[in-house]
Amino acid sequence: MKLLLVGSGGREHALAWALAASPLCDTLYCAPGNAGIAQLAECVPIAAEDIGGLVRFATENAIDFVVVGPEAPLVAGLVDALDAAGIKSFGPRRAAAALEGSKGFMKDFCARHNIPTAAYGRFTDIAAARAFVTAQGAPIVVKADGLAAGKGVVVAMSEQEALDAIDMMMADKAFGSAGAELVIEEFMQGEEASFFALSDGVTAIPFGNAQDHKRVGDGDTGPNTGGMGAYSPAPIVNKAMAERIMAEIIRPTVAGMKAEGTPFTGVLYAGLMITETGPRLIEYNARFGDPECQVLMMRLKSDILPALMATGEGRLDRYDPIWHDSAALCVVMASNGYPGSYKKGTEIRGLDALADNTRLVVFHAGTARDDAGRLLANGGRVLGVTALGADLAVAQKNAYDAIAQIDWPEGFCRQDIGWRALASLKKGN
Ligand code: AMP
Ligand code: GLY
Repeated sequence: MKLLLVGSGGREHALAWALAASPLCDTLYCAPGNAGIAQLAECVPIAAEDIGGLVRFATENAIDFVVVGPEAPLVAGLVDALDAAGIKSFGPRRAAAALEGSKGFMKDFCARHNIPTAAYGRFTDIAAARAFVTAQGAPIVVKADGLAAGKGVVVAMSEQEALDAIDMMMADKAFGSAGAELVIEEFMQGEEASFFALSDGVTAIPFGNAQDHKRVGDGDTGPNTGGMGAYSPAPIVNKAMAERIMAEIIRPTVAGMKAEGTPFTGVLYAGLMITETGPRLIEYNARFGDPECQVLMMRLKSDILPALMATGEGRLDRYDPIWHDSAALCVVMASNGYPGSYKKGTEIRGLDALADNTRLVVFHAGTARDDAGRLLANGGRVLGVTALGADLAVAQKNAYDAIAQIDWPEGFCRQDIGWRALASLKKGN
């Protein structure tokens, strides 16, 4: 088969790694890809948001199946455009990707279908938003409605912080049109976990779980990032909890989307708060997480391609993925300064000595090669050093042992990825 993968981050390198290993894959293209993906796929310089360019490429090259990594093209209607051109793909259509693309849509949908999530209000008027915060008090959570690259959420511990967040999003338009509408919601207490399910529009199956570290600093301190590391499985999502998540959140969502005429096909990524009363939805994403995808792909024993094709073709009722018993852990290496401003073009050495194998893979998130073939950092998050181990502690050691061999003075990583899970496993929880 001829495949086209869309995207250029660590998530897409992990998908490329899994797709390239499929016996069904003859040719793998990636648009636009990165230096790591280029070792596995033929990279073509088409932006992930260039819907017309992607459909044209897929048509001209007789692509059999397109796998869409990031949210922006999904929300912009790439899958709809591919469908119209008769090209099969993995990912939700635009109307279903609204579960991620509009927080207001997601909250109203959950209310219509009794899916447990935080109580909320939707606001397009700044005075009404302020009045709601004053009436509810803190802690309270202020969110821009639209896509804001993971930065459109302020968890306000004081009323003033919440009022400032409203001003930043609505008056100062910090996130542009994404902040024209706000969702303001109840603060939920508990432990967070990411849960993944494949949905073909009718049938949903669990597809792994993970936890990530969003803060830039050790001990989960400092500003939020796209994710500084992740591990799978998440100890808090035991078998009973996974079944509750499927029964109370995932299946009602898939049934509700179908009933409303916008069936969800693709991967549903539920960001959850595991509270005292059970799992509650923080947010939905319509794609794999990054760096969660990196740990999921290393744990997946089955061929990924039949799973993605069954999702796109409504055949998930006959699919049962097999996972390695091992744990996986990914540590992200980022450019010094991230998530603030950082330098591009610094050289990374030492990766060649880390011959990739099935237990250790250095996924590239933001890399490029210069004319001399040197590997350069080309983004904020740059590498995702991902290791398997018999348990989380071993996976963590394997990842950090590999990092010790990477020579990149202009980069950094957190030293404690996995700490919460390791602490709770030690306590025997
Ligand atoms: P989101 O972009 O919606 O995933 O939110 C980013 C982060 O904000 C989440 O990972 C949570 O840590 C936090 N958060 C979002 N909504 C809530 C909420 N209602 N209660 C507590 N924390 C929240
Ligand atoms: N790691 C968080 C995300 O992909 O949204």
